[in-house]
Amino acid sequence: MSFELSDDEIAIRDLAREFARKECAPGAAERDKKEEFPAGPMAKAAELGLTGLLIPEAYGGAGLTNMALSLALIEINREDASVGVTLSVHNSLCASCVNHWANEETKKKYLPKLASGEWLGAYALSETGSGSDAGSLTCRAVEDGDHYVVTGSKAWITSGDHADVLVLFARTGGGGNKGVSAFVVESSWPGFTVGKKEPKMGIRSSSTVQVHLDGLRVPKANLLGKLNEGFKVALHTLDGGRIGIACQAQGIMEACLDASLKYAKERTQFDQPIAEFQPIQWKLAEMETRIAAGRMLIYRAARLKDAGEHHAKEAATAKLFTSRGANASARDAVQIHGGAGYCTDFPVERYFRDARITEIYEGTTEIQKLVIARHLLRE
Ligand code: CAA
Repeated sequence: MSFELSDDEIAIRDLAREFARKECAPGAAERDKKEEFPAGPMAKAAELGLTGLLIPEAYGGAGLTNMALSLALIEINREDASVGVTLSVHNSLCASCVNHWANEETKKKYLPKLASGEWLGAYALSETGSGSDAGSLTCRAVEDGDHYVVTGSKAWITSGDHADVLVLFARTGGGGNKGVSAFVVESSWPGFTVGKKEPKMGIRSSSTVQVHLDGLRVPKANLLGKLNEGFKVALHTLDGGRIGIACQAQGIMEACLDASLKYAKERTQFDQPIAEFQPIQWKLAEMETRIAAGRMLIYRAARLKDAGEHHAKEAATAKLFTSRGANASARDAVQIHGGAGYCTDFPVERYFRDARITEIYEGTTEIQKLVIARHLLRE
């Protein structure tokens, strides 16, 4: 497997790096403090084409690789993990799911607007009673002529109060994961309302809400995949999404090392920079090693996905390693900064809070291990 980057992939990485530094970094701490949605950076991301990276050119996107998206997401998450997750969910969980599973008519309707960023995408799988056991969801869709009528509630929906289009999972058959179907729905339709906004520890400027569906009429054309086979749509889509969250964790790890190197060289104690002390050097070395390994795991998963190969295990492996790595690196970064790192004057305090979610959403650390182990036992 080659990890050599194409010219397009390098160009997107560099574009995303510049976007992250110029448009995301300056307001990141302030938006985090105010729990303010990153509307400005998202508008600029749309202008630069970062909302349509995976969408084929025929539907107005850039038609680029998962490697290109991964490189872009790592750069963006280095500066602002809230912009990072908003873009990851839009690209990996919504646009890419519609592109893979929708019929031609539905693709033509939604993909150009998702690609241009005119419409923001979200993904509504979880409910208050169904998180890790996603197949136990209770939101129901009942057939009515040429529509399905959806009733129920969804929880933990990233961008749910800003999204125009959502990939939504509802029960159309019996119990368990066999009776679930996937739909693409619009938030402007009657019967769609936004509920409680979650007050979060980290990624505070990304919005996480409950959404309620009360008689939401969804045209049958908006079914994604086959009736009652929506759970496969959910898991197949999450394989890509998990690469996106691995990129988020990777970006946080890299930001932690950058900040720690700078601080360790500047801060003096006992008449020398603290970088001269071996306990600090060991932390820096561990951080660098996790970064190098994380990149390789992400590149492997992205390249497999680009080749159309099965990548569930590799995506889970990348997410498992990088999310734990982000938490370890954020802990080390705060420790290197000492009291300063515990205060909001330094960004590592935000990285520490932002890292925590990477072990929880799009499948917890425990679920990633379950996915990996099931594959090992089947192989
Ligand atoms: N792709 C396609 N199909 C798949 C698949 C994959 N990667 N993995 C499994 N399947 C198929 C299986 O083959 C099976 O089909 P058959 O019965 O026909 O063989 C079917 O899907 C069900 O598979 P399982 O029996 O393994 O399902 P399960 O009920 O045991 O659940 C699970 C498996 C791994 C625990 C799964 O429920 C899971 O991943 N849970 C975590 C949920 C999650 O990640 N939620 C994230 C929410 S989204 C979010 O966080 C977004 C955000 O806003 C940031």
